[in-house]
Amino acid sequence: MAYNLLKGKRGIVFGALNDMSIAWKVAERVVEEGAVITLSNTPLAVRMGTTNELAEKLNAKLIPADATNVADLEEVFKQSMEALGGKVDFVLHSIGMSPNVRKKRTYDDLDYDLLNTTLDISAVSFHKMLQVAKKLDAINEWGSVVALTYMAAQRTMFGYNDMADAKAMLESIARSFGYIYGREHNVRVNTISQSPTITTAGSGVKGFDSLVDFSERMSPLGNATAAECADYCVTMFSDLTRKVTMQNLFHDGGFSSMGMSFRAMEQYNKSFEEFKDEQGNIIYG
Ligand SMILES: NC(=O)c1ccc[n+]([C@@H]2O[C@H](COP(=O)([O-])OP(=O)(O)OC[C@H]3O[C@@H](n4cnc5c(N)ncnc54)[C@H](O)[C@@H]3O)[C@@H](O)[C@H]2O)c1
Repeated sequence: MAYNLLKGKRGIVFGALNDMSIAWKVAERVVEEGAVITLSNTPLAVRMGTTNELAEKLNAKLIPADATNVADLEEVFKQSMEALGGKVDFVLHSIGMSPNVRKKRTYDDLDYDLLNTTLDISAVSFHKMLQVAKKLDAINEWGSVVALTYMAAQRTMFGYNDMADAKAMLESIARSFGYIYGREHNVRVNTISQSPTITTAGSGVKGFDSLVDFSERMSPLGNATAAECADYCVTMFSDLTRKVTMQNLFHDGGFSSMGMSFRAMEQYNKSFEEFKDEQGNIIYG
């Protein structure tokens, strides 16, 4: 259902690779709510992925850019203002990648050049985006910038590796830049901490399916889907959240406040079945 919450607004959506991508769902949803947008992804992703189809469907200009490259980002903001007919009102940073995870390097055997790449793509790119936008004065007063993050920034999650450090940095950038951008231009900057979601990036994490199942069992409302994340982004881009800034907003069905749930406990207990004696006592061996 559409509420026209973004009528007359212009936006840029970074990171839609295929129809599983969270950014893909956000792009569809913001247009449904009346916004006009441009899309951006790396030249390689544009060639290999299906972002072109989305651009056609939404009548959105697709601007290839490596988000670690400042000159590329300047082009995205300049071309977006030109294509959309003015400054933008919202930006989504939905970008993440760890070459250490891809190459199966464990956290105690990181390649430091690869770590720099993880941090540059997944966190520093957010700073670059904000700095470019501010220098070009590309975002309207009361505009809204959102980056997607994950709870591994606060709590250690098996397999999340150096992406946890990248997310911690990303969330810090939202606070540090949010202060300056808010003070000077009334632009708000937040991160949304999303449930594990089955996408190309998500599936790279070791044991991802178990993580999805575990957080589903732990969350009273269940995992938040990509489509639900898109709904939340719409509210964050709308005028209904004008005083929300510098926040890390959990969108996870309650997972981040849970310690143990009945459903997770039940599953945990099942793993002891084969180690029980006739009286039902667990034999720890
Ligand atoms: N999937 C999950 O479980 C989950 C949970 C919480 C947060 N997130 C975050 O959501 C965001 C989107 O991820 P997704 O799950 O939709 O996966 P995805 O793989 O669909 O999206 C990741 C995007 O990053 C882009 N990208 C990679 N390197 C880039 C670069 N140098 N410049 C520009 N773009 C680049 C990719 O092309 C891709 O479009 C990421 O920040 C991810 O960490 C995902």
